Amino acid sequence: MMTKNYSLSSLWRGVAAGMALLLAGSAFAAQAGDEKKISIDNKTFHCITDMTPVRHFYVDNLLGKLKETVAVAKSENGGIYPPGSVVQLVPGEVMVKHDAGYNAATRDWEYFELDVSKEGSSIHKRGFTDVVNRFGGNCFTCHIKARPEFDSICEAGHGCETIPISRAMIHAIQNNDPRCKSHQLTEEDIKALKQLEAFQKASAAK
Ligand code: HEC
Repeated sequence: MMTKNYSLSSLWRGVAAGMALLLAGSAFAAQAGDEKKISIDNKTFHCITDMTPVRHFYVDNLLGKLKETVAVAKSENGGIYPPGSVVQLVPGEVMVKHDAGYNAATRDWEYFELDVSKEGSSIHKRGFTDVVNRFGGNCFTCHIKARPEFDSICEAGHGCETIPISRAMIHAIQNNDPRCKSHQLTEEDIKALKQLEAFQKASAAK
């Protein structure tokens, strides 16, 4: 009797979960209109150095529009990134572009903070105007300061507040992504990682 009750209730839980998923799916479809739905989960993200490098950062496109994404990233005059664009500077922070009109405040960018390990990526936080990184900074508040033609991409000289991490440190952090099969840390990378560690210790002690 106990077993039967248990299996019935777990069956009901299964049905309820299925219905919740269906409802979530239709809400999404209504919001995104006829556009292709961009679904994003832990499996969306992988080794940063397997993405396409543009200068000192990496890009991809979840809807097969990589060429268009790379063209905007490479343009000196900026441009609007196409839907599906993925942009990363470090393994744990990602921007993904949704369809036009999806979120006017963020210019359709969704911000992600990931936990990354050898096992893969796990989404720690995601959202639009309210994602705060490990250092207490709100992604959106910083990135929206980029001049409009740069579509919230900060780089250097686009109008954002700067971050206290050198390009050498960024390069080292990219090459040290635990999700990547091979790590090719140069002498400079190792030096930069040591500096970064010292810098983190110093700011933790403050
Ligand atoms: C203090 C301001 C600030 C905060 C907070 C911040 N960023 Fe950035 N971010 C920058 C700056 C400045 C750069 C450019 C660094 C460079 O190119 O040397 C950058 C670079 C990036 C890039 C590469 C493309 C670009 O804009 O140059 C991505 C992607 C990114 N950040 C995502 C995030 C995410 C996701 C968060 C929150 C989890 C976040 N950032 C929080 C200032 C910030």
